[in-house]
Amino acid sequence: MNAPLVAGVDSSTQSTKVELRELETGALLATGRAPHPATSPPVSEQDPASWWSALVEALAQLRPHLDRVVAMSVAGQQHGLVVVDAAGTTIRPAKLWNDTTSAAQAAALRKRLGAGEWASRCGLVPVASFSITKLAWLADEEPHHLARVDRVMLPHDWLTWRLTDQHVTDRGDASGTGWWSPVDGSYRVDLLGLVVDDPEAWLSKLPAVRGPTECVGPVRGDVADALGLSRDVIVGAGTGDNMAAALGLALKPREVTLSLGTSGTAYAVATSPTTDATGAVAGFADAAGGFLPLVATLNATKVTETVARWLDVDVARLAEMALAAAAPRAELALVPYFDGERTPDLPAATGVWRGLRNDTTREDLARAAFSGVVNGLLAGVDALRSAGVEMDGSLRLIGGGARSAAYRQITADLWGSPVTVHAAAEPVATGACVQAAAMHSGRGPLDVAASWRLDAGTQVEPDPQVDGAALRAAYRDAARSV
Ligand code: XUL
Repeated sequence: MNAPLVAGVDSSTQSTKVELRELETGALLATGRAPHPATSPPVSEQDPASWWSALVEALAQLRPHLDRVVAMSVAGQQHGLVVVDAAGTTIRPAKLWNDTTSAAQAAALRKRLGAGEWASRCGLVPVASFSITKLAWLADEEPHHLARVDRVMLPHDWLTWRLTDQHVTDRGDASGTGWWSPVDGSYRVDLLGLVVDDPEAWLSKLPAVRGPTECVGPVRGDVADALGLSRDVIVGAGTGDNMAAALGLALKPREVTLSLGTSGTAYAVATSPTTDATGAVAGFADAAGGFLPLVATLNATKVTETVARWLDVDVARLAEMALAAAAPRAELALVPYFDGERTPDLPAATGVWRGLRNDTTREDLARAAFSGVVNGLLAGVDALRSAGVEMDGSLRLIGGGARSAAYRQITADLWGSPVTVHAAAEPVATGACVQAAAMHSGRGPLDVAASWRLDAGTQVEPDPQVDGAALRAAYRDAARSV
């Protein structure tokens, strides 16, 4: 008899990926994928309907196996603001995490309450990424739309709602809104009241927060029929993409992960909440009942794509050039704030090259591009440490960038210790599978992740000739001058 399967969805900014894994063993059977429309920050918006069509397309690729699926969960890009009216229609395109048009609202909210108060009330100090600044933007710029709002959702909530008719979220993604506290585990009417009138009434527009292994319900009958799923499939609460990745990596407390994707993130699982008044570290909750302090940068793999374009090569060639560069010079640095930056909070910043000379080579420029991205994230690891996050010195590398030999080697060189490159191709979708399996089997998500042996990876050693600490210090200096 064919083994039962779980489906894990990663609805990211660029695409939808769906993994099918065996419920018991976690063995990967198949992956489906479909693209999302491209976005171009500072305005970065997507119509939620495009996420649904991508999900339908990705599932269609898996059709021969779908009758074996018993449970599914959806993980998605964090923070995006989806607003739906009483008829269930999305009122406008979702403003995504990397849309920086709410920078003025973020600054006003910080000023109103003070960074320390924000950090202690919800774990976050507002920057343009967080949902609450997007709701404030809607109130300021589109009050006619705000007046129609009946339900507020995050991207993964909207997909779960389309699948089940249930308006729910989970701790992990709720902790990225700015109106929910990971410390109290409840919505903060006081913070909502800073952006909308009658915040008590707004509570009914927010999703119910479900636990890490709670079942939200069966998939809607008509939706199951249309997608080719059995009507018995049960759906989990889902979570944010970073929280799902932590499950998909079987990440344990004190292990730090760098994710190199559209955004860059640096995070660690923690057993207690983080409150960072500098705003560098977002004090998120995770998808297993714990916490996930995280630093996010807006400029990651897109930077190396852009520099490759400038040098008229593809990214694979740029990586070869970077690895062929002579020993890196500390004075050459790219501070890659091409899309503005979130950490540090510089939404209007632009990129800066420093240390260019007549003998600078194309290879040097290529290496500086990779180094700039990694250095930005390693500055994030420093911020995690300063915020009191405990670390054991290990570093895992995931995301599209982890497939590049240049990102791997340069990360190990700058870190100055071996780096583990994770084996999982799609850790977010894998984490969603873990949640679905945990819900179905009644086990804890961390148990499931451990029994599926999701922590495997390969080690990359640093080049002993490279003085990573000096290069990092030179980068910090260059970044301070932006
Ligand atoms: C995290 C963040 C990004 C998105 C990417 O705070 O904004 O990592 O989740 O999808």
